[in-house]
Amino acid sequence: FPHFHFVSGELHVESLALSTLAKQYGTPLYVYSRAAIGQAWQSYVNAIGSRRVLVCYGMKANSNLAILQEFARLGSGFDIVSDGELARVLKAGGDAGKVVFSGVGKQAWEMEQALAAGVKCFNVESVAELHRLSDVASRMGRLAPVSLRVNPDVDAQTHPYISTGLKENKFGIAIETASEAYQLAKSLPGVEVVGLDCHIGSQITEVSPYLDALDKLIALIKELSGHGIHIKHLDLGGGLGIRYDDETPLDPSILLNKVFARLDSFGLTHLELVLEPGRSLVGNAGVLLTEVQFLKPTADRSFAIVDAGMNDLMRPALYEAWHGVLPVRPRSDFAPTQWDVVGPVCESADWLAKGRMLAIEQGDVLAIESAGAYGFVMAGNYNSRPKAAEILVDGVEHHVIRERETFEDLVRGEHLLR
Ligand code: LLP
Repeated sequence: FPHFHFVSGELHVESLALSTLAKQYGTPLYVYSRAAIGQAWQSYVNAIGSRRVLVCYGMKANSNLAILQEFARLGSGFDIVSDGELARVLKAGGDAGKVVFSGVGKQAWEMEQALAAGVKCFNVESVAELHRLSDVASRMGRLAPVSLRVNPDVDAQTHPYISTGLKENKFGIAIETASEAYQLAKSLPGVEVVGLDCHIGSQITEVSPYLDALDKLIALIKELSGHGIHIKHLDLGGGLGIRYDDETPLDPSILLNKVFARLDSFGLTHLELVLEPGRSLVGNAGVLLTEVQFLKPTADRSFAIVDAGMNDLMRPALYEAWHGVLPVRPRSDFAPTQWDVVGPVCESADWLAKGRMLAIEQGDVLAIESAGAYGFVMAGNYNSRPKAAEILVDGVEHHVIRERETFEDLVRGEHLLR
């Protein structure tokens, strides 16, 4: 992965040895590369060229303030799903005018905050939400800019838990009823139709599901203009896959070239395009460092018990996700054997990797790869485990962008009986 490499037998991120960071800050530890984030951003910039595209970083993938600050500096917008995410964007110096607000369960007070901040668009996911938004905006004497998130019923060929564009999913408005919903939107006093939105899933490695969705959206845009409803921007969501193991990631330029060609051929060159990539911007920019506590060979299988668990990185437990495991100082003095890398949490689902060939000993530090997206943000405190610290490396420098939690953090807000 770019910016993670071996230098004299030691895994480095940019110019720093990961073992040094593990020693200084302890484990488990999330470490990100600023250059890797910049490089992933640049691949979108290159793909966009001179076209009108707003990239709204899907910040649920990694919402550390320093990471958001970096995206804001790069000129990114943000795809948010809660008032908490909006507050983070504003605190990190992001531009509310480049924020799109997604999510199926927006509350009235969240809508108020977003309207007051002046977000670019609300991606509305149901007719009931449209009514609530219109009411809130009217009460404030405002007009809320909206896109309807349409569910195009396409198969993104990804894990069922992260597929969102099939009709059995809770997301979006069924494409068959979208035209009706747009006409309702047009008639409501507090909303103004500005766009059309969809997001079909995550970790997508094929172009075809996007193009299937795009074709359906283009047909809808034509139908809407027949009703006097004119869309200014088209939001295709996020979802571009990355390499964890041997997947071929979906390059933004391959996708966008096809999308531009299709839009041009339908005379839709004037449309602004919005994208909401999360994983593809940060996924391979981070690792989770963890130390081997015990080696426990059993009759059935051999366990390497490490100090990071499912509370630190939930993806394996939740999706049986595959993450690469690399010792930061690989050993060549003995042959690798097969290990299940498991955490200290009291659950059998608490594993990080299974059946990996590793030459390891107690005390060794391992890097769990591709942990920059949906890693720390999904962490919890189960088993009263404090959340890990986060470090951003920048060349030879590094920044502590989140301190390790303490016992005081764990019990903050709790009260003993009087
Ligand atoms: N836009 C919307 C409306 C979304 O729901 C998502 C992700 C994104 C954008 C960003 O998608 P990305 O480019 O990152 O694929 N926790 C799961 C992934 C859940 C994705 C949820 N929605 C995982 O660890 O694989």
